Amino acid sequence: MANEHPLSGDSIALNRRYLDSLVVEGRIIGARHPDARLNLFGHEFDTPITTGALSHLKPGMDAFARGAAEAGAACFVGMGGCDELKAVLATGAKVIKIVKPYADPDEILARIACAEENGAIAVGMDVEHAVNVRDDADSFVAGYQMKLPTLEELRGYVASTKLPFIVKGALSVRDALTCQDIGCAGVILSHHNALMRWAVPPVKLLPDIRRAVGDEFVLVADGGIQDGFDAFKALALGATAVSVGRPLMQPLEQEGPAGMAETLRAMTGELKAMMVRTGSPDLAHIDPSVIHCLNA
Ligand SMILES: Cc1cc2nc3c(=O)[nH]c(=O)nc-3n(C[C@H](O)[C@H](O)[C@H](O)COP(=O)(O)O)c2cc1C
Repeated sequence: MANEHPLSGDSIALNRRYLDSLVVEGRIIGARHPDARLNLFGHEFDTPITTGALSHLKPGMDAFARGAAEAGAACFVGMGGCDELKAVLATGAKVIKIVKPYADPDEILARIACAEENGAIAVGMDVEHAVNVRDDADSFVAGYQMKLPTLEELRGYVASTKLPFIVKGALSVRDALTCQDIGCAGVILSHHNALMRWAVPPVKLLPDIRRAVGDEFVLVADGGIQDGFDAFKALALGATAVSVGRPLMQPLEQEGPAGMAETLRAMTGELKAMMVRTGSPDLAHIDPSVIHCLNA
């Protein structure tokens, strides 16, 4: 019989509930059509909606990268070897490679070097995937053993590359500040599809983290961003960019890179509608006070 009980502490559902509790006031009088372009790590993008750091996708990671490039979006990519990354970079997409926290540091350093040598614009690590929902066994991902890096090891990975380094899985002011302290250029606020149960919704943390790290540090909100309206809420509350993973998979599988690009463009159109309705001329000028919490 199917399990009729919801997961205890399902962070995906909690995140959705929080996003749904946020409503937006209108400031349309005198507003103008907005500019939603993003400068990220010195590169210009047509949208602050980036791809999630996905991996193992059916039509191939190069098709995924083509979809991002066609939409003018930054392309985060997840697990995969150097040959796959070269094929992804050959599409012309602007790629941020997220390396797994492999138990073997050489696996990590080789992937960071591959990203740097082949033209990725930044690199990072999904530290949160070193632990599963239960910490009762060694963590393996796709046959590779994972290990939590020590702070000194993480500092070493950051220092090993000239590329900006971004940690995926920071989910507190404390972790964001630690990442900033060891030289990271930013963090991705993520609970990695509820790998951490009862996780505070990333968007709820954004204002405090933004206040703590200042304006320049890159904050990417990850997880459960379904459309441009969700994206707007995250950007208004302090995100530099938002990443979208699972909602791109079906369009990519069914319609290829063009379908994925169209989904990203449609989300950007929704985001721009929210920007114009709130008198937000560009990404740097979205006033967080337009957001209200129904539960406050
Ligand atoms: C098929 C698939 C593969 C993924 N692979 C990775 C990965 O290799 N590295 C990583 O950091 N996250 C990976 N993720 C997690 C996503 O980056 C993201 O954190 C998660 O899907 C939540 O975002 P979403 O709600 O927009 O999908 C993967 C997710 C999916 C669905």
